[in-house]
Amino acid sequence: MSHKFRTIWTTEDRFVEVIDQRQLPHNLITVKLQSYQEAEIAIKNMTVRGAPLIGATAAYGVYLAVREMLEKQLDASFLERAFEALRNSRPTAVNLFWALDKMRKALDESEDFLTTSWEEAGKIVEEDIETCRLIGVHGLPIIEEIAKRKKGEVVNILTHCNAGMLGCIEWGTITSPIYQAKEKGIKVHVWVDETRPRNQGSNLTAYELTRHGIDHTLVVDNTGGHLMQHGMVDMVIVGTDRTTRNGDVANKIGTYLKALAAKDNEIPFYVALPSTTLDMSIRDGLKEIPIEERDQNEVKYIQGKRSDGQIDSVLICPETTKASNYGFDVTPARLVTALITERGVCEANEAGIVSLFPEYK
Ligand code: MRU
Repeated sequence: MSHKFRTIWTTEDRFVEVIDQRQLPHNLITVKLQSYQEAEIAIKNMTVRGAPLIGATAAYGVYLAVREMLEKQLDASFLERAFEALRNSRPTAVNLFWALDKMRKALDESEDFLTTSWEEAGKIVEEDIETCRLIGVHGLPIIEEIAKRKKGEVVNILTHCNAGMLGCIEWGTITSPIYQAKEKGIKVHVWVDETRPRNQGSNLTAYELTRHGIDHTLVVDNTGGHLMQHGMVDMVIVGTDRTTRNGDVANKIGTYLKALAAKDNEIPFYVALPSTTLDMSIRDGLKEIPIEERDQNEVKYIQGKRSDGQIDSVLICPETTKASNYGFDVTPARLVTALITERGVCEANEAGIVSLFPEYK
């Protein structure tokens, strides 16, 4: 897998294909999406996940709905139901709503729904690729600076969840500077948080880094603080599902604890994001970002590969124990060293964001 490998692509018969991320790292299986309902389910059950990829899948979901509506001569309420269903597929990543609004606007201005929805979804995909490449361009000097300070020694980077290419289309957000650093010959090593309950770190980030030949070590989620106290982390870099006007950052549950530990140990804590993950309509992340709550069985069971090669899931607590499963937490802006975006690096506050994105003034 190079960064040229994509996580979503179109087929010759103009449907959409994605990687079933629930099967990784053990099986690389692709799934064809042929209706908006299949796109909706793929987002809900996390066949696809990661803020930018959720947005791109929803955009193609709209295209699939338009296609079915025209082929079956259904009335416009079919398309409205598709928008509604896709909107309700996951609550936290704002890229979903951004992509649906963009598709809606394009359709409102169009007389050829099929071509417009196909092309607009394609543009969302292409833009994300370039955006993530640029996040790497702007994030690379941060890694270079640490490498220089350490006189060429290995730069140790800690990350949580998967904000790599698997959460995007190509490059990834946090992985783009890492891949570009490797291409420049900088020695990097990544501490990968396993990221319970769904283990996006061990299943996806470790897989992706392995495929890219990036040195990495898997750690359980509680290890980061210890590593930081012992000088084993030079920087933390995470992705985000929604970042507010004030610079508050929602990301995978557990991110906040890493930010606290980084602050206590004076380790820079960066958030890499495309501007499509900014939600400039809200300020207070703690009060205003909806936090997804998922099925308790994701906590009570753990999935892995058995010695006979079969993927299985096993119960890890008494059957009757209840579990709570908050998908995300909010890291207050005061704990964020800087945001790395496609237009450059800025402080995690309104002034910083507006300095790079004056259109959001
Ligand atoms: O529940 P997930 O796997 O969709 O959560 C993903 C994350 O929290 C990522 O860090 C975030 O979406 C950024 S992806 C570039």
